[in-house]
Amino acid sequence: SVDIPVVEAASGSLEDLARQASTCRLCSLADTRTNVVFGVGNPQADIVFIGEAPGRDEDIKGEPFVGRAGQLLDRMLTAIGMDREQVYIMNTIKCRPPNNRDPRVDEVQACNLWFEQQLELLQPKLICLLGRVAAQTVLETDSPLGSLRGRWHDYQGIPAWVTYHPAYLLRSPQQKQKSWQDLQALLSRHREIRG
Ligand code: URA
Repeated sequence: SVDIPVVEAASGSLEDLARQASTCRLCSLADTRTNVVFGVGNPQADIVFIGEAPGRDEDIKGEPFVGRAGQLLDRMLTAIGMDREQVYIMNTIKCRPPNNRDPRVDEVQACNLWFEQQLELLQPKLICLLGRVAAQTVLETDSPLGSLRGRWHDYQGIPAWVTYHPAYLLRSPQQKQKSWQDLQALLSRHREIRG
């Protein structure tokens, strides 16, 4: 049996939520994880980037996107004139699935307790979903990445954009050009919002 933590809807701070999440035992990933990987960056950020799940490096460090894919994400941010301190970076689930398998539905559902409140506290103006798994999970769709890219979606009133996962770009560098176009479109929507 698990103790369901009593977490009041977005009443505390992001740090409070992170502290509560750090001892989460709502799913069995708690047995195999090293660290709960909550999120990193600027809590006031306009744009929140959302990946799939922590990998090995992230599990060890307790921070999202610190491995090779993370280094590429940093370069992607630099390309649009941003850095980690200006945006906020998180994942759909907070604990590493063994051998980096896709998150299971029950794990996503359990972690949604943290996910929803985290976004409620962050109140981003835009979210950018990295890769098929994050996009399908957050947008609750089975559509392939190809049909989700290039148009705006909605996540609880927040405009959501979909692009390739940096780990995929490491394997398929020929897609970097399209990824660059995606980031430019994200940036131009951000400029519109900033006025
Ligand atoms: N891949 C992800 O989706 N998230 C991370 O934090 C690292 C790699």
